[in-house]
Amino acid sequence: MTHETLLTAREGAVATVTLNRPDKLNALNLTLVRELGEAIAALEADASVQVLILTGAGEKAFAAGADIAAMAAMSTSEAKGFADLGHAVGARMEAARFPIIAAVNGFALGGGCEIALACDFIYASEKARFGQPEVSLGVIPGFGGTQRLARRVGIGRARELCFTGAIIGAEEARSIGLVNSVVPHGELLGKVAEVARLIASRGPVAVAQCKRVLARGADVTLQVANELEAQAFASLFGTRDQREGMEAFLNKRPAAFTGQ
Ligand code: COA
Repeated sequence: MTHETLLTAREGAVATVTLNRPDKLNALNLTLVRELGEAIAALEADASVQVLILTGAGEKAFAAGADIAAMAAMSTSEAKGFADLGHAVGARMEAARFPIIAAVNGFALGGGCEIALACDFIYASEKARFGQPEVSLGVIPGFGGTQRLARRVGIGRARELCFTGAIIGAEEARSIGLVNSVVPHGELLGKVAEVARLIASRGPVAVAQCKRVLARGADVTLQVANELEAQAFASLFGTRDQREGMEAFLNKRPAAFTGQ
């Protein structure tokens, strides 16, 4: 599938999608957000994909936000449609069978930060910058930023970032739990690919259930979440991957998972 605003690549079970409007710092226009949703749906349909890396083209940005030039002319109903599209893509990312790792190589502002937050976790280059600067444009985050940021870093930090529009560096983002790891700029994609390959070497059905339970469990009571976990745990027994993983351990050999 070819895209106007994305690049896609594959290495074994690891797919990479690159947001590709570098002359506009990968700003998220309608086409890009729509294409991102379509690309994730296409990867979901391909059972051989086990991890997705999401990054930005060029040296400066993951994505410097929703496209301000496009938003400047939006009516209220167009803005609602744009926000709904962004939310649908975020929901699709969270519901995807495979983990999605954000490799944040530069600015992740506004919608860029929100797309990174919809990924399962974030690795950042030391040049990365994060923020929700929408209030400086007279609006607020519209792709889930207020909610996902609060769930990721806590409500106090989320309030401070959203109210001030402050832009923070990679190390500060790591210190508040927004970013898992900060990596030298030139090593970012290599390091993220290493983590992706490690995940892809594990039992795919188990990883998918882990992702599902972690995502769903975040929005329900601990009791309900623990029940979801117990059901998912039980559902894995009888899968080929469970038999293979345990037999391989007991026979002191590496497991050869088939995703079944
Ligand atoms: N929407 C549309 N275009 C954007 C954009 C955005 N969010 N962010 C950057 N661009 C465009 C610029 O207009 C410029 O285009 P031009 O060359 O045609 O003039 C190009 O990308 C390069 O950006 P520039 O501002 O020249 O780069 P910089 O290094 O001087 O500054 C930023 C980088 C990120 C600090 C600055 O671009 C910025 O503040 N962007 C907006 C961030 C924001 O508010 N995002 C939230 C949106 S809701």
